[in-house]
Amino acid sequence: MSTIPISLDAMKRVSRAQPKAAKTFTVTSPIDGAPFADVADCGAAEARAAADRAAAAFAKWKDTTAYERSAILKRWLALMQANQPEMARIMTLEMGKPVTEGLGEMRYAESFVEWYAEEAKRVYGDTVPSQFAHKRILVLKQPAGVVYAITPWNFPYATVTRKIAPALAAGCAVILKPAEQTPVSALYLAALWEEAGGPPEVLQVLTALDPVPVSDVLIDDPRVRVLTFTGSTEVGKHLYARCAGTMKRLALELGGHAPFLVFGDADLDAAVREVAACKFRNAGQTCVCVNRIYVQESIAEEFTKRLSQVASQLRVGDPMNAETQIGPLVNAQGMEKVQAHVADAIAKGARAVTGGRALHGLYFEPTVLSGIKPEMQLMQEETFGPVAPIITFSDDAEAIQLANNTPYGLASYMWTRDLGRAMRVGEALEFGIVGVNDGVPSTAQAPFGGRKHSGIGREGGRLGMDEFLDVKHLSIGLP
Ligand code: SIN
Repeated sequence: MSTIPISLDAMKRVSRAQPKAAKTFTVTSPIDGAPFADVADCGAAEARAAADRAAAAFAKWKDTTAYERSAILKRWLALMQANQPEMARIMTLEMGKPVTEGLGEMRYAESFVEWYAEEAKRVYGDTVPSQFAHKRILVLKQPAGVVYAITPWNFPYATVTRKIAPALAAGCAVILKPAEQTPVSALYLAALWEEAGGPPEVLQVLTALDPVPVSDVLIDDPRVRVLTFTGSTEVGKHLYARCAGTMKRLALELGGHAPFLVFGDADLDAAVREVAACKFRNAGQTCVCVNRIYVQESIAEEFTKRLSQVASQLRVGDPMNAETQIGPLVNAQGMEKVQAHVADAIAKGARAVTGGRALHGLYFEPTVLSGIKPEMQLMQEETFGPVAPIITFSDDAEAIQLANNTPYGLASYMWTRDLGRAMRVGEALEFGIVGVNDGVPSTAQAPFGGRKHSGIGREGGRLGMDEFLDVKHLSIGLP
């Protein structure tokens, strides 16, 4: 099924996990546009069949012990670890993430499986004192039911495990619809799940070129109790409204427009390094990448010079090469948006201190822009590309006001040596995640998610498990 060499074992694995469907679609690689794989193109019929299987599987899976589920998750983790290089290569072929960074994503993806394998055993309820001598009050947490998970292409493994490891650990059955750009990574994960002893009906992957027919069926199915989605705010709002009919529980991880505040007292070398890591990882294609870099006036010139130096030295090229730091953007649509944002900024008076141009294919130069104005497109919405706009501010109050002046509220960052300022500004920022002297705060045991138009619910940590658990008050009257 592949025109680009991946191992025979990998091809067999992926084929085994494929759903049965009448049609297929071809996945192409952003590296060179070459076809990479043909996968099942599922529609309404496949979704109905998957929902039937998942509902039947849930009836059994929910009654397994936490220790049984944990053991399967641990074996799944071990298989992921054993196959890390191959999985990273598949991801690179599918969506262009540099392979070295892909290995980092593998470790990140695995950390969710590891953490929730343990957390499965800690789904504690409560006993609550009653005012009546003959009553006992128990609070139980039970698996919510069948989960429909829709995942994006930018973290083909980590956004999947961040959603489905807690769902599976909680005792839910999962139907996963991965992005059409990255179905092979998801199928590989599902194959390993089965090899680890996980029932295949408990984790089913429905690959589809058009998500709508699959989603329509699963959203209207009352047996599907939870929808968890990572993607654009526009689609998230549509799903929010659509799920009202069956009153599903929702976890929506949507767009961001992250600010990074660099204060005058910052350790400049460290700040430049972390802003660069935050901006340029995955070629700027993460929901938590900084989109607006606010630098205090006193250090703005020096900061801009140093960030531009770092950006201009980043190695752009073939993502299969271990030395590469910036690979291609995911597709032509992504490239068009980056080009449009940069052109709009330049037309409105911005200056490209470094970069600013599209290279061959889907590659774009790491770019630092100064002279930014609020009306520029890149100040309104996320660019999802390697473009770093720098804006100046005068004091803390202005920095907070500028940072919060957005409908989005996913991630934000600041760099300062002043602990009092870190606390005050950290508390004032209207975002679900605040990195203080930390450009990459995401981690399995902490909550990940946004406020305002960036979504509802949390992934990761204890709260990430709660999304898949129903709370029951069991009131017992004694004879
Ligand atoms: C994302 O963009 O959704 C993932 C980024 C992260 O987990 O840090």
